[in-house]
Amino acid sequence: MLPIGPLMIEHRLIERMIRLIEKMIEALSQGAHVDLAFLDFTVDFIRTYADRCHHGKEENILFHDLEEKKLSPILRNILQELIEDHVKGRTIVTRIEKAKTRYLGGKSSALTEIISQLKELISFYPKHIDKEENHFFRPVMDYFSNEERENMLKEFADFDRSLIHAKYKELVERSEAG
Ligand SMILES: [Fe+2]
Ligand SMILES: [Fe+2]
Repeated sequence: MLPIGPLMIEHRLIERMIRLIEKMIEALSQGAHVDLAFLDFTVDFIRTYADRCHHGKEENILFHDLEEKKLSPILRNILQELIEDHVKGRTIVTRIEKAKTRYLGGKSSALTEIISQLKELISFYPKHIDKEENHFFRPVMDYFSNEERENMLKEFADFDRSLIHAKYKELVERSEAG
């Protein structure tokens, strides 16, 4: 399997989550109350799975290794855009979380912000995935030898393996700190 294989499998789960978020937006637009548990789940999914696990492998391994390569100007530009997209995703999630806190504090205007940021998220993500899968992933694989590809797959697996331990260690430490 090429190293982009696991990344593409992860994209499929992110797309399924995007569809669930779409349903939540529909319900909210029709006057439903905010499902706080689902909103928390959304924030955790985007932060932990989409950003830390998925973007983490892209940025720390694939993009990082591409820095050593003489990429074509077109691919170099796309790489820059992808990095900026990741930053945008983080900004959106932070805004959602802040709006949730304001909503819990009784600010009714926060609901509009939650809906607008969720809409931003579901419109931006599919475009990001399309850019990676249809304009970037396959051409950049040509810059790596078979051995480099194998090593990258191993690095991906190691990255994933350490993630759950790191996450729960941090959660315990945060609780200990009060
Ligand atoms: Fe990405
Ligand atoms: Fe991706």
